[in-house]
Amino acid sequence: MMQTERLSAEEVERAVEWLLRGEPVGFPTETVYGIGAPLDRPEAIGKIFSLKGRPSDNPLIAHLGEMGDLERVALDVPQEFYRLAERFCPGPLTVVLKKHPSVPFIASGGLSTIGVRFPSHPVAQALLKGVGVPLVAPSANLSGKPSATSVEAVLEDFEGKLVAVLEGGECALGLESTVLGLFDLEHPVLLRPGRVSQEALEEVLKRRILLPAAGAVPASPGMKYRHYAPKAAVKLFTDRTALLHHLKEGGEKRRLILTSEPLPEGIGEQLPLHGSSLYAFLRYSDKMSAEEVVILCDQAAQKDAALMNRLSKAADVFCGPRSSLLAGA
Ligand code: TXA
Ligand code: MG
Repeated sequence: MMQTERLSAEEVERAVEWLLRGEPVGFPTETVYGIGAPLDRPEAIGKIFSLKGRPSDNPLIAHLGEMGDLERVALDVPQEFYRLAERFCPGPLTVVLKKHPSVPFIASGGLSTIGVRFPSHPVAQALLKGVGVPLVAPSANLSGKPSATSVEAVLEDFEGKLVAVLEGGECALGLESTVLGLFDLEHPVLLRPGRVSQEALEEVLKRRILLPAAGAVPASPGMKYRHYAPKAAVKLFTDRTALLHHLKEGGEKRRLILTSEPLPEGIGEQLPLHGSSLYAFLRYSDKMSAEEVVILCDQAAQKDAALMNRLSKAADVFCGPRSSLLAGA
């Protein structure tokens, strides 16, 4: 089996070579690591889907290095997009627009739209500049597993399968970008909450943004799949008393507790609940062969739409009011 090359930030040229030869490469962004392939290389894009085990109807995001690349990816770009871009790009925002006819079918999962994002991570920017073509890239994790926020996490899933991964340290944000659907200007939709908040987007757009209707046909294919899940059962609590009761009654288990407030000692390993470390800790629960991950979200955590969205997708069991748990991709 081949060994995956770990490339330093100074070896961006080597990553560019691989990409131009049609081999997908892992790279860092400010949100999570991605696996990229040039937008104009459908065979290379196909390899990403098989590497991840990703359903072919789940579209990829196009990562752009400069605004000049937009017209090769999207059609009929509305003025509103540029207002958003001025404020939030480069950064953790993906905007779904009408796609340009030259975007390969496989990149957009057969949809007539394409998500575009301008990453702010300097290594991602250097890579995009070197390739000279937008890179389509999903998160660098096996489909259904927690996203990867470090090179080590990328290698857990893809050692010997990817030709190379570029190093860029730990991802600062640790949760994937906000995804905003802007293909219907009258009805912008929040397809996935992230660190660019719904309120901030509404302020720039000067209109209400809708949440995808629960139970409706998914507006974003990613919404219908289970995500971010470690091997252990994940149990989500919004109430401290209910959680402590569960620990008392739940029997002896190899257990990891993620909590937004300190709990009594002696009930199992406790780690703090934060968006930026969530995926690293879910992956850690796999490494310690946890049977159960118990999560306590206090009021403040419940107000964090991006965090609650990921938790509600990772969880098997909810204890406490669900109303605060947002839907989304
Ligand atoms: O932060 C991020 O966005 C990371 C980094 C690598 O940029 N990427 C990422 O990609 O999270 P992925 O493929 O793991 O998640 C993209 C999500 C999926 O839920 C997908 O269904 C949705 O965005 N999406 C992408 N293109 C779409 C489109 N044209 N219409 C609706 N949803 C779309
Ligand atoms: Mg993903």
